[in-house]
Amino acid sequence: MEIAKLSKLITPSGTMAISNKARVLREQGKPVIGFGAGEPDFPTPEYVIKDVQVAAEDTSNHKYSPVAGLTILKEEIVRTSELYSGININQENVLVSNGGKHAILTTFMSILNPGDEVLIPSPYWTTYPEAVKISGGNPVIVDTEFGDDFKINTDQLDALKTSRTKVLVWVSPSNPTGVVYTKEEAEKIYTWAFENNVWILSDELYEHLVYEGKTSPSPAQYDTGLKNTIVINGVAKAYSMTGWRVGWIIANTEVIDMAKKIQSHATSNVSNISQIAAYSALKNGLDQTELMKESFNRRRLHAIEEFSNIENINLIKSTGAFYLFPDVSYYSSSGVISGVHNSIDFCNWLLDEYFIAFVPGEVFGKNGFLRCSYALSDDDLHEGLSRFSKAINDLK
Ligand SMILES: Cc1ncc(COP(=O)(O)O)c(C=O)c1O
Repeated sequence: MEIAKLSKLITPSGTMAISNKARVLREQGKPVIGFGAGEPDFPTPEYVIKDVQVAAEDTSNHKYSPVAGLTILKEEIVRTSELYSGININQENVLVSNGGKHAILTTFMSILNPGDEVLIPSPYWTTYPEAVKISGGNPVIVDTEFGDDFKINTDQLDALKTSRTKVLVWVSPSNPTGVVYTKEEAEKIYTWAFENNVWILSDELYEHLVYEGKTSPSPAQYDTGLKNTIVINGVAKAYSMTGWRVGWIIANTEVIDMAKKIQSHATSNVSNISQIAAYSALKNGLDQTELMKESFNRRRLHAIEEFSNIENINLIKSTGAFYLFPDVSYYSSSGVISGVHNSIDFCNWLLDEYFIAFVPGEVFGKNGFLRCSYALSDDDLHEGLSRFSKAINDLK
C-alpha cells in the first residue's frame, strides 16, 4: 500500500537530530550543554497557573467551545494587538490556533492553490517550507548574505517574482538569525508586497524580544483593511508558554472564515484551559517578559563577546529573539578538522568531543553557520561557550 507522495517532499523538523543525539549522550551521563532550545528557559508566570487552576474547576471549560476561540481571549488579542502593534482589528479578524505553528499551516492551507509560490527568506525557520509544501504550494527561497545582515531587498524579490507568486514570509525578529529589520527597511518590503499584490505572512512571535531599539512595525499598521497582510502571533516565546500551544491568526474575515472551516474539521477549538492560560498571560501585561528580557540580553552580550574573541568566527550582533547565527565556515569547511566537511559535521564534532549541542545552519537552509540559542542558564552559557573556545584553541 502506498502512502502520500508528499512523504518524498517533506522532512521532519530538523532541530530534532542534534537534540536526540544530545539526549542520548545525556542519558549516558555525559555533561551535555544544549544551545539548541527554541524556547525560554523560564517557567510560565505564576498568575497564569493560578488562573488555570480556577478555570479547570469551571465545568463550562470541560466542553467544546467556538472554533475561532473564547471571546475573552479574542478580546485580549484585539486589545494587545492595538496596544503593542498599533493594529486596529476586531474579533472577527482573529482565529485562535494550537500554537503559532498550527496558525501558519492553517494560513497556508487557507490561501494557497496548488503550485502557488511562497517567497521565504533564507536562513529560514525550518517549518515554513514544509508547511507550504503540505499546503500544495512551492517554496521559493530568497537567499540572503551575511554581509547584508541576512536581510532581503526588493531587487531580490523582483528577480524571483513570477505570475504564481502568492505570499512573502516575513519574520522580524528572525529565527534563526535574531536579526531585526529597521522601520525603513521593513517599509520598503511592505510597499513591494502591496504594489505587487502579494500576501505578507508576518510572523510576529518574537515581537517583544528586542534588545536595542525597536522592533519593526507590523505590516498590518500600513494595511488597515488587512487586504494583503496576515499576522501570526502567540504566547509561546514572550510569556514562556511553549507547551500550552496557543497561537493565533489575524487576517481579513475572508481568510479567517476559510481558516475557521479548516480548523473546524482539524481540531475544533483549542483546549479551553490553554486559552484561559493565554488570556491570563495577555491580561497581566509584559512585566514578566521584561524580566526574561533582562536575562536574555545579559546572555546575548556575553555570547557576542565570547564569539567575537574566537579567531575566524564572524558574527552579526543580532538584537532580537534569543538566537545568534555565527559564521563558522572556516572550521566547518573541508580541511580544518578531520572528518568535518559542513556545519552538520561541525556540530556533531562539537557534540561528540566537547558535549556542546548547536543546531547546524543546514536546518535553516544555510551551510557554514550554526544557530546558538542563548535561552539557557548563565552558568551553562559560560561553561558551554568556554568549551567552544577550547575546542577551537585545541585545533592550534
Ligand atoms: C519564527 C517562529 N514562528 C513560529 C513559531 C511557532 O511557535 P509556537 O507554535 O510554539 O506558538 C516558532 C517556534 O519556534 C518560531 O520560531
